[in-house]
Amino acid sequence: MMESLQTDPAGTGMRSEASGEEGRSPRAETPGTDEPHTGWRHGTVVAGVRWKNPVGTASGTFNLAACGRYYDVSAMGAISTKGVSPVPWEGNPTPRTAETPCGTVNAVGLQNPGVEHYLIDELPKLKALGATVVTNVAGHSDDDYAQVVARLADSPADMLEINVSCPNVSHGGMSVGTDPLALFRLIGRLRSISDKPMVVKLSPNVTDIVEIAKACVDAGADALSLINTLVGMRLDINTGKPILANNTGGVSGPCILPIALSFVWRVRQALPNIPIIGIGGISKGEDALEFLYAGANAVEVGAASLLDPVAPLRVAHELESLLDSRPQLAEKLEKGMAW
Ligand SMILES: Cc1cc2nc3c(=O)[nH]c(=O)nc-3n(C[C@H](O)[C@H](O)[C@H](O)COP(=O)(O)O)c2cc1C
Repeated sequence: MMESLQTDPAGTGMRSEASGEEGRSPRAETPGTDEPHTGWRHGTVVAGVRWKNPVGTASGTFNLAACGRYYDVSAMGAISTKGVSPVPWEGNPTPRTAETPCGTVNAVGLQNPGVEHYLIDELPKLKALGATVVTNVAGHSDDDYAQVVARLADSPADMLEINVSCPNVSHGGMSVGTDPLALFRLIGRLRSISDKPMVVKLSPNVTDIVEIAKACVDAGADALSLINTLVGMRLDINTGKPILANNTGGVSGPCILPIALSFVWRVRQALPNIPIIGIGGISKGEDALEFLYAGANAVEVGAASLLDPVAPLRVAHELESLLDSRPQLAEKLEKGMAW
């Protein structure tokens, strides 16, 4: 996959080859300097945090060791990391992914090396590269989330993104992200632990997204990101059994784009002022632009980067050109406002 990217005379941020160590190879993205990529014409502001451009990576689809070999990660608007839990999690048994006609279904199960490892490894590396870091927080219970947020409170992470679509074992096994009262209590508790800009990442597997979004804002969330994956599955027609060891998983990719747009649009209609990061099926600049017109202040690119590792940066460049001819929208984003 992408074995031979060539040099970067145009300052795109793409790596000249796929062999740089975790993004530490010389930065060629701003011609004539060794500074991180700063040449973007259109930035955005999300909950007071400036993004160099409105495009970030979506959690779980970015890994510094892998992606840093293909492009300068500091050129992204922001990097949302893999979900970080209080202790290392092994994730689900394999198979964990299956194809769909227009996307993927995964049940990775939040595999990660835990917050202590994150604090001494990935986070300092990302900050040393000049990346704007959104640390995605995972938990199986309110105490799990609280522990991670407390450990990150004095860290150099720029923002926290609380992933509330995991089973919440301390609340009768229900997913905290689908229960407005449980969510209000959790976000209120996390708010009291940390002053960091806090984004809550919402699950689309709910009946009334506006009720859920309002519970987060009332509890003190600074921004919302939506959507996470939709529950889905594939079956093997030779065995008659589910392909994923977990039976069901989360659907992502181009097939969820119209659904994600409607979620963003509905939340924006109900909550005109809350910053929104739009996620779901974005694979080109036009998709990102559609989210901005639906009311997002920024977007994140997920599954597209599993097919094309430089997709997030390509989308950022495509959006940049589209914003050149839309000065009104570009000006609003620059001021932290949505369309
Ligand atoms: C393999 C994989 C792993 C993911 N892991 C996480 C995660 O750790 N935390 C999280 O909040 N979202 C996670 N997601 C959800 C994505 O961040 C994103 O919300 C979703 O895939 C929809 O965007 P997309 O269609 O652009 O992929 C994951 C998605 C995929 C495909």
